[in-house]
Amino acid sequence: MGESKRFILLSTCSFKLLSDVSKALSDEYEIVKAIDGAQTIRAISDKSINLACAIIDLNQPNMNVFQILSLMKKSSVMKYIPVIIMAETLDDENAEKCLEDGAADIIMTPVAAAKIRFSVSRCIQNKMYIKELEEKASSSNEKAGTKSGDESEGSKSVGDSEQAKQEAISELEHEFANMLGTLAEFRNFSKNHIKRVREITKSLCETLVSFFPDSNLLKEDIEYIADASCYHDVGKLLIPDDIILKPLKLTPAEFDMIKSHTTKGCEMLDNLKEFQSEKMFHYSWEICRYHHERYDGKGYPEKLQGENIPLSAQIVSIADAFDALMTNTTYRKAIEFEKAYSMIMDGECGMFSPRITQCFKMNKDKIEEISRKYADPYA
Ligand SMILES: [Fe+2]
Repeated sequence: MGESKRFILLSTCSFKLLSDVSKALSDEYEIVKAIDGAQTIRAISDKSINLACAIIDLNQPNMNVFQILSLMKKSSVMKYIPVIIMAETLDDENAEKCLEDGAADIIMTPVAAAKIRFSVSRCIQNKMYIKELEEKASSSNEKAGTKSGDESEGSKSVGDSEQAKQEAISELEHEFANMLGTLAEFRNFSKNHIKRVREITKSLCETLVSFFPDSNLLKEDIEYIADASCYHDVGKLLIPDDIILKPLKLTPAEFDMIKSHTTKGCEMLDNLKEFQSEKMFHYSWEICRYHHERYDGKGYPEKLQGENIPLSAQIVSIADAFDALMTNTTYRKAIEFEKAYSMIMDGECGMFSPRITQCFKMNKDKIEEISRKYADPYA
C-alpha cells in the first residue's frame, strides 16, 4: 500500500488561484479548501486533518490575513506547519509584517506551478528540520539531566557529571550549528558553502593564534568560532524566495531586504538562545550581525570600522566573501580559484583586516584544498 497523501490547506476566494494551486500540488497532496477566514480557522483547529502546510491568500473576506496569522501563531497545532502567503500585490512594509507574524514564505501571483511546489516542499522541509532540532535539544538536555541525576546518587564524581553535561551540550551545539546552517544553504546556491566557510574560518583562526598572538584569539575558542560561522546567513531563511532567487538586478528596496538578513538572523538567534551555551551564542550572534562589515567602514549593517568589528566576524567575512565568489548564483557563474583569490587580495570585495588578509595569504594552499575537497557536485 502506498504512503497516504498529506494535506494542504488552501485559503482563498479566488477561483483562479484555487485552480492553479490545486493543479500544481494535487499529485502530491490532498487540498483542503477554505474560502474565508472563519473556514480557515476551523480547518486548522480540526485535529483530524493532518496538515503539512497552509497557503493563505492575502485577500480574505471577513478576516484579514494578519488576524489569521496571529491566531495561527497561538495555535500549538500550527507550530510545525508552515504558512505561505500568496498575494497579487504587497508592499515591503506588509511583506515584512507577514514574515514577522510567522509566514514562512510569500509568493507573488500569478505564479508558475514549479515555484509553488518548490516553496511548499522547502517550507515543509525547514519546519521538519526545526522539529528535529528541538527533539534533539530536548533529548540531549534529558541525557545531561540523567547524567547529573546519576551523580547525585553518589555513583560518579561532580567533575565526571559536569564533563558529561558539557559533552552533551557541545555535541548538541555542533549538531545544531550544522543543521541550522544546512537550512540556510537552501537560500544559497551552493550545497557546501557552509562547510567550506567553516573549514576556511577554522584554518584562518589557527594561523591567527600561531602567528599573531597579540590578536588575543584563544585556542580553545577556535571550534566555537568555526561552528558559529555556520550561522552567518541564517537570517536568509526569513527573506522571501522572490528576492533571494531573483535572477535580475535587485531594486534598492529589495537589496535593503537582503541586507536585513544580518539583523533578522540575530533576532532568530535571540529566540534560540536557550539551545546555545553563552560562548556559542556570543560568537554566532556577532558573526551573524557583522559578517558583511568591512574594515574601511563601507560594509553593513552598522558600517563598523577596523577593530570595532568583532574579530570572529572579521575572520568569517573574508571566508564568506571568498567562497561566495567561487559559488554559482542566479546572476553569475562561479569564479575559478586563482581569480577569486586575486580578487580578495586586490580588495575587489571590499577591505578586510590586514592581519587576517595576511593569514588568508599564508593559507592559500590549504584554502584551495578545502575548496576542492568540498566542491559542489555540479561546479
Ligand atoms: Fe551574508
